[in-house]
Amino acid sequence: MRKQIAAANWKMNLTLGQAEKLLDNLLAIDWTPKTHQEVVIAVPAPYLFPALAKLKASGREHIYIASQNAYSEVSGAYTGETSAEMLQSLGVTHVILGHSERREHFHETDEVLAKKVDTSLAYHLIPIFCCGEPLSIREAGTQNAFVARQIEKSLFHLDVTSLQKVVIAYEPIWAIGTGKTASSAQAQEMHAFLRSVLAGKYGATVAEKMSILYGGSVKAANANELFACADVDGGLVGGASLVAGEFEAIIRALQ
Ligand code: PGA
Repeated sequence: MRKQIAAANWKMNLTLGQAEKLLDNLLAIDWTPKTHQEVVIAVPAPYLFPALAKLKASGREHIYIASQNAYSEVSGAYTGETSAEMLQSLGVTHVILGHSERREHFHETDEVLAKKVDTSLAYHLIPIFCCGEPLSIREAGTQNAFVARQIEKSLFHLDVTSLQKVVIAYEPIWAIGTGKTASSAQAQEMHAFLRSVLAGKYGATVAEKMSILYGGSVKAANANELFACADVDGGLVGGASLVAGEFEAIIRALQ
């Protein structure tokens, strides 16, 4: 069975005190994960260390702490950046790469992202690789080609073993933080298409095993319907992940 993942992306929100309180609440949720279910919480970089300590103290399994980014180079004179090796040394297990906000505000290209994927995998981090089209592309009806290209340019240099370590997150940009969710039919259609693109390159067996998360205004009220789609394997959640009760309901919506 494919992994089902509820991933929180806190983005650049919360003070340390607020973050600790939210994490305490999430770690206290009375939830018994099935073997294929996971929760990943991507906290701001300064909170990685305390978050990992809290997770460890809680003894909870199937819950992981993620970084929201990692640099493409291994080490050196890159002031302000965080390396995959540093993250690994902290005990971080996952890293979000290629979020549309990083592509837009920090000009991350498909080529840079391919390098970030490689560097992250080299340090045994699981990339949660984001893709997704802007509204103009959706309106032009060319979203499939657009998203397929993002995947091909940043992931298709990987060998099959490496590819299978990656989690893909489809996040249509027009649905991020807008309250406008893709319908479950739109999400399912794109996820099935992405799986067919993966199958075309790596074979159907490999494609069947890959988790593809949906992101873009996922909340308690729509998580059940989205996660029930055959090719939607959970969600990457921004706004709603900042409210413990909302994210708890999203966790419980995992199939
Ligand atoms: P949102 O963000 O849930 O607030 O739309 C999702 C994301 O950017 O990952």
